[in-house]
Amino acid sequence: MGTIDTHFRADLSVDFCGIKAPNPFWLASAPPTDKAYNVIRAFEAGWGGVVWKTLGEDPPAVNVSSRYSAIYGKNREVLGFNNIELITDRSLDINLREITAVKEAWPDRAIVVSLMLPCEEHYWADILPKVEATGADGIELNFGCPHGMPERGMGAAVGQVPEYVQLVTSWCKKHSRLPVIVKLTPNITDIRQPARAAKAGGADAVSLINTINSITAIDLDRMVALPTVGTASTHGGYCGTAVKPIALNMVAEIARDPATRGLPISGIGGINNWRDAAEFIALGAGCVQVCTAAMLHGFSIVEQMKDGLARWMESKGYRTLADFSGKAVPNTTDWKYLDMNYKVIARIDQEACIGCGKCHIACEDTSHQAIAKLVDPASGARRYEVIDAECVGCNLCEITCPVQSCITMVPQQTGMPYMNWTQDPRNPRAEKVPTAA
Ligand SMILES: Cc1cc2nc3c(=O)[nH]c(=O)nc-3n(C[C@H](O)[C@H](O)[C@H](O)COP(=O)(O)O)c2cc1C
Ligand code: SF4
Ligand code: SF4
Repeated sequence: MGTIDTHFRADLSVDFCGIKAPNPFWLASAPPTDKAYNVIRAFEAGWGGVVWKTLGEDPPAVNVSSRYSAIYGKNREVLGFNNIELITDRSLDINLREITAVKEAWPDRAIVVSLMLPCEEHYWADILPKVEATGADGIELNFGCPHGMPERGMGAAVGQVPEYVQLVTSWCKKHSRLPVIVKLTPNITDIRQPARAAKAGGADAVSLINTINSITAIDLDRMVALPTVGTASTHGGYCGTAVKPIALNMVAEIARDPATRGLPISGIGGINNWRDAAEFIALGAGCVQVCTAAMLHGFSIVEQMKDGLARWMESKGYRTLADFSGKAVPNTTDWKYLDMNYKVIARIDQEACIGCGKCHIACEDTSHQAIAKLVDPASGARRYEVIDAECVGCNLCEITCPVQSCITMVPQQTGMPYMNWTQDPRNPRAEKVPTAA
């Protein structure tokens, strides 16, 4: 292994489908970006770019009260966030004037304008020159809003039909010179279909995910879901920490699809810190967008995001984001190409163990009865030990253990070569596929 040169400052700048920004941390189209006041304060705090809250046709949308609900962890930290807001509720003219002024004052930051209009070409032909005249760097097509707008034939109603995605994207390419980012809805079975359609329509990039259809909770006294509007509710859009795994998978699906490989991706969904961002970038994202974390903690979170990412890159010898963007993509494969001969076994650090027995219960009741509970007859002291021969390396005990790093999963020397399921003699339908993907 060569030594890593750490004597440099990591360069966080991005050129995302022709849109330049000093760093990859952009605010997603949502309340943090719905007016000049917010966006200026975000830029002062250090955000590299924003996607302006979705503009639509006048008269502007009208919102209800209340609008948000959440899922909480034990310490009341918000794990998942749900909203039933619509697109901007301010007039097109005010928004366009503010975008022009902010872009003029902050030329080095990326300003992308999010748009949602009916599926008729003249609406797009009409608005696109107005957006271009603001000096904005690009447009993002909101094909993702899951509530309110789909009932009007927009948002997710378009994003769920690849033909519409392709058609509207092609109108935007026809009527604008700005880079077109297509924002995808996760409320679809196969995310690759709309991504392929966006590419076929000429999209310069895709961004994902928008929010996931959700009902977070029911008020069991009033028998109504949250958030409640009078005596009724409706499904909302789920986002925040809880959606990150879904977003990462969808980003990976697009990054490794031969039909869309190389298409720039802006990663969105549950990004709270630099590590989350680095994970999206490792799976192929060129920049990231943040909404819920900024709504819950304010704009200043970007400082730690930038600092943390730069320090980590320096520790790894990555000078630019391109040095590690997509590096995890080739290691993300189909199940059938995983190594059937790879084996790990749980190891308990007896010094760190507090004897709670959680690992034993988990393995005994629902896994492979591979953790023995040994009781010292004299003292009554309990000790937990892994029975190597029974352990299948499922990770459950490690996940259950309340003491960090007390249980580790240790790779075993099996002496057996790589063999995937397509090569495995136990596979009754063994395919004639010779090697890994
Ligand atoms: C209150 C709220 C309003 C939103 N409004 C929009 C919108 O107008 N246009 C849009 O494309 N996405 C909108 N979103 C979705 C976000 O841009 C983002 O895709 C989603 O929240 C996932 O990111 P997060 O987990 O960082 O919040 C909204 C999200 C929230 C919470
Ligand atoms: S890894 Fe799974 S099988 Fe092995 S000891 Fe832990 S819970 Fe049991
Ligand atoms: S869960 Fe962790 S701390 Fe508890 S008994 Fe098992 S190894 Fe020890």
